Amino acid sequence: MSESDSVGRREFVGVVTALLGSIMAAVVGLPAIGYMLAPALKASTGEAKIEAGPVENYPEGTPTLFTFTRTKVNGWEKTANSYGVYVLRQGDTVSVLSNRCTHLSCRVKWSDSEGDYHCPCHDAVFDKQGKVVSGPPPRPLDSLPASIENGKVYIQWKEG
Ligand code: FES
Repeated sequence: MSESDSVGRREFVGVVTALLGSIMAAVVGLPAIGYMLAPALKASTGEAKIEAGPVENYPEGTPTLFTFTRTKVNGWEKTANSYGVYVLRQGDTVSVLSNRCTHLSCRVKWSDSEGDYHCPCHDAVFDKQGKVVSGPPPRPLDSLPASIENGKVYIQWKEG
């Protein structure tokens, strides 16, 4: 065996070892990198169709509070937020108002005795349709699209 054959064999073994090492690193490493990066590429859209239960839960003509929790995903960060809306059933239709005051986002409360929504933070009053009656809010309560399907109320929710 000559010196050049020995060097050639050593180089060959070195190249094959490096090649196999690279392939093994790629097979193990690429899925691991994908697994670690995947959450960063995901972001929740903030839109959802929320089931608000059977229509019988909502007495005719009386705004009724419905609360739910949404989890927002932003990369590795998950945030759970609670929301509230008032569902008003009138015959075969429903209308839905956010319970968030349009002034500084305090929670408004429906009063059966007064027949209006009241915001405790700065004494704002909204009528049954959500229009501002008095106080500092710059606009009516936010309205959300809603429907009744197969006896259940659905709310089209958009994070905002
Ligand atoms: S936050 Fe409702 S009136 Fe100010």
